[in-house]
Amino acid sequence: MTTIQSAPLAINGGEPVTKNPVLIHKPMITDEDIRAVTEAMQSTFVSGDGPACREFEKQMAAYLGVKHVLFLNSCTTALDLAFMIKDFPADSEVIVPNFTYTSTALGPILNNLKVVLADVRPDNGNLDVAKLESYITAKTVAICPVDYAGNPAEMDEINAIARKHGLYVVQDSAQSIGSKYKGRYTGNQADVSTFSFHGTKNMTTGEGGAIVTNNDALADRIKVMREKGTDKYSFLTDNVTRGYYEYVDKGNSYVQSNINGAMGVTQLARLEKMNALRREIASYYLRELSGIENLDFLQVTEGADTNWHLFGILVPAEKKYWIMDALRAEGVLSNVHYTPLHRNKYFKQYGTDADFPGSMEFFNRLLRIPIYPSLTHHEREQVVEAVRKVFAQL
Ligand SMILES: Cc1ncc(COP(=O)(O)O)c(C=O)c1O
Repeated sequence: MTTIQSAPLAINGGEPVTKNPVLIHKPMITDEDIRAVTEAMQSTFVSGDGPACREFEKQMAAYLGVKHVLFLNSCTTALDLAFMIKDFPADSEVIVPNFTYTSTALGPILNNLKVVLADVRPDNGNLDVAKLESYITAKTVAICPVDYAGNPAEMDEINAIARKHGLYVVQDSAQSIGSKYKGRYTGNQADVSTFSFHGTKNMTTGEGGAIVTNNDALADRIKVMREKGTDKYSFLTDNVTRGYYEYVDKGNSYVQSNINGAMGVTQLARLEKMNALRREIASYYLRELSGIENLDFLQVTEGADTNWHLFGILVPAEKKYWIMDALRAEGVLSNVHYTPLHRNKYFKQYGTDADFPGSMEFFNRLLRIPIYPSLTHHEREQVVEAVRKVFAQL
């Protein structure tokens, strides 16, 4: 008898598990979001830093348990601001993990700082704290840990090293909204942390981001610098009769529209529910895919509760692209996310494969499979069925 696992693979001409492709990610947008956006537009306050943006910032600060949340038009601009507010001398060095999105490195680069790429752990793609001190020189001013896949970086160890060397810590939490580290939400573990609300993230405002901090002085400078270096923030809030605002610093145009702010309020209200659905799917995968030969899961950081922004599996390096193609033929999409920074044209001069063994091992073995709140039970079963079928015939 032919069982599903010994049935001919679709990549070899067999029947696929499904003819309706299961996508990798999908935002969850409801009538509530649409209503909120419509109301914001009807209010005619469509420009930046409006009442809905302020409301979103207030609610996000309460949710995370941090003092200041400043809503921005992306996480990339948040990372730029994280360095713009510091005025570090040009050529100071900033340590950035080699396995991350380009934006983590662009923050320091846009501020004339030198990026030093650091290796990551082969089992989860986060900064390898055992190697971290080896990158520190007399010119190092900052470290930028990343919470890859939503799994928080090892912040106790990173902060201890930062304290020892007097370094500024910018946590790129683009992927980890709603994740906890040692009982507290990400956003509480660094000097400043940055979040993304891009359409692929656990909550979205279309495009969007935030920078968060407990430091009043840093927050004050962010409010000015995100608004082209003007003091418009207090002009809008303080109800002082002035009739104009002043140009008090340098800056850029990084505030976010009130339309997106409205969506932030409704998305945030549903975030815990959406993250719970992701956790349920992740538990299902962990249960149903465990014990498959040649398939490993990503290591969750000790003391962390991940938001399961991504679900990664580690597969045999030499078969990775074949597995990806075979899963696609079965109707289940998978991908590799991004390549290590030094493998990209712009970052070629930052090192070679031999400099980043952990990063190369992780990248060579990583595949992402579908996870998002609206993934149906039937689709989850199809993902598991396709993975089992393909791995049975590796
Ligand atoms: C780790 C990391 N940092 C920064 C970003 C940039 O986010 P945004 O698209 O909001 O600028 C991303 C986006 O995927 C990311 O994954």
